[in-house]
Amino acid sequence: LYHFEDGLPKLPVPPLQQTLDMYLKCMSHLIPEEQFKKTKAIVEKFGAPGGMGEFLQKKLVERSEHKANWVYDYWLEDMYLSNRLALPVNSSPVMVFPKQNFTSHSDTLRFAAHLISGVLEYKSLIDGRALPVDYARGQLAGTPLCMDQYNKVFTSYRLPGAKMDTLVAQKSTVMPEPEHIIVACKNQFFVLDVVINFRRLNEKDLYTQLERIRKMADIEEERLPPIGLLTSDDRTQWAEARSVLIKDSTNRDSLDMIERCLCLVCLDEPSGTELTDTNRALLMLHGGGMDKNGGNRWYDKPMQFVIGADGCCGVVCEHSPFEGIVLVQCSEYLLRYMRGSPSKLVRAASMSELPAPRRLRWKCSPDIQAFLTASADKLQRLVKNLDMNVNKFTGYGKEFIKKQKMSPDAYIQVALQFTFYRCHGRLVPTYESASIRRFQEGRVDNIRSSTPEALAFVKAMANSSKITDAEKMELLWTAIKAQTNYTILAITGMAIDNHLLGLREIAKELKLEKPELFSDTTYATSIHFILSTSQVPTTEEMFCCYGPVVPNGYGACYNPQTDHIIFCLSSFRDSAETSSDLFVKTLEGCLKEMQH
Ligand code: COA
Repeated sequence: LYHFEDGLPKLPVPPLQQTLDMYLKCMSHLIPEEQFKKTKAIVEKFGAPGGMGEFLQKKLVERSEHKANWVYDYWLEDMYLSNRLALPVNSSPVMVFPKQNFTSHSDTLRFAAHLISGVLEYKSLIDGRALPVDYARGQLAGTPLCMDQYNKVFTSYRLPGAKMDTLVAQKSTVMPEPEHIIVACKNQFFVLDVVINFRRLNEKDLYTQLERIRKMADIEEERLPPIGLLTSDDRTQWAEARSVLIKDSTNRDSLDMIERCLCLVCLDEPSGTELTDTNRALLMLHGGGMDKNGGNRWYDKPMQFVIGADGCCGVVCEHSPFEGIVLVQCSEYLLRYMRGSPSKLVRAASMSELPAPRRLRWKCSPDIQAFLTASADKLQRLVKNLDMNVNKFTGYGKEFIKKQKMSPDAYIQVALQFTFYRCHGRLVPTYESASIRRFQEGRVDNIRSSTPEALAFVKAMANSSKITDAEKMELLWTAIKAQTNYTILAITGMAIDNHLLGLREIAKELKLEKPELFSDTTYATSIHFILSTSQVPTTEEMFCCYGPVVPNGYGACYNPQTDHIIFCLSSFRDSAETSSDLFVKTLEGCLKEMQH
């Protein structure tokens, strides 16, 4: 079924002049006039015939000839692996499942066993290359999409490094592989073998093993320190702690088991908080800190299924191997699996003679204790700092927008610009993820939504009394067309961010002096994404969210539905400039004004 893959086109390298012109257009209205003049001169020099730009472009084209995807490595390092920030909140998106009603521990474990069965089914579809190929929807619908990201869901691991992390891919030749899952419970980690004697465990066996794990986790005398907290720290710090940890062979063995597992299942304790949408999003993003479930995680692993005894469930995802859309597909498969194949656990646990799950052991030197204290403190600060607001806008949904013959995504982006302008009196460089999976090994590029046309529209709306409704309508159309055109550029591989990154990185690779274009303040401003947005639509009742990418920014994830839109806004409390509540409240008003 993946036969399309080899036939997918390669990502093109956009023409140099087109990117440079677009760069100037994107920044002209976002920086002071004097600065723009300076930048324009730098860009012109870079793009002049026989100049540095032409040379680097030629090298980039050569690179594209012998790589499946010329930007993939550069992008992965820039976007994720060289980013030193802690994974929770700053990098790992989460999917929040509908709240469950568990009445007992057995209920929770039954849910977990059912979910793990679904995970194993899904994994066998991936392994057998039997997942149906995804096709593009919306703009330029119908083309097949690259399925490469799915292969990494249960096989990769983000290893922390002193300067840069590594995305490790496991490849096993043993068939069927002796696979295992790590179950986290009360900050302890247990190995749950899911294939024993070449047989995959059924749901009943899984339940039996989970009960045993639960009982082992309850024995207070055997509890070990919450080592998982180390993975919530910034990457350099965790790399340092890990280098101390692996000096001991017991720790090395435990780390090895975690790094090679399929995924984690985190059995969380009740959080003691009211499970509103916002609170569930917060709990999923950071576990509530060390005194809640913050240590019951291992952030380097791509998939952590969280099952809270209080019914707070979802998935925490390490972002470097795949995009949110893959997370959605996997989560939706699991929810449908659990609904469509009723739990096979009618009565009590199985009586089978399965070997007992193993608790992972840790030897904690005083150095490691000190690392743990520091990691716990930092996580606590992150917990206090995150300002989240999940809001279901019920005024209308994408149907109303489609009826106006407008692209819902473009419309929502313009609404976000309008809101930002109303809150802050200006527009800022904005990131909207655009899938480039139409191409081999395609990940994403950026739609720069703060277009000059959006600025003209939001200014007109802000000065409402002086401008007629017809003029505003005209400006809205122009803004939506500009946004839609940029979207089409991006999904066809013609956006500017990956291209500029490629030019910058190839200069570095060739050990050339950094071109002035990239040391110019305008360039730094252009990639400081105060507004970081993403559409993550779902067909099941759930939502995705993530944190801001800069200290003074907002993360804005939205999920357009037929008659409503879910918005998940995040920001940091220690920034005096931002407020998620204010943003959401203003957005409601802006969406209503736009409808009017
Ligand atoms: N009139 C009427 N209907 C229109 C329209 C118009 N002018 N323009 C679009 N529509 C319809 C589309 O046909 C589509 O219909 P469907 O719901 O039946 O499929 C729907 O409106 C949505 O289209 P649109 O709002 O234009 O957006 P899109 O689905 O093309 O999405 C992106 C745009 C950029 C979000 C998408 O291309 C993309 O890249 N998504 C991936 C983002 C991502 O990676 N997120 C995760 C990051 S971790």
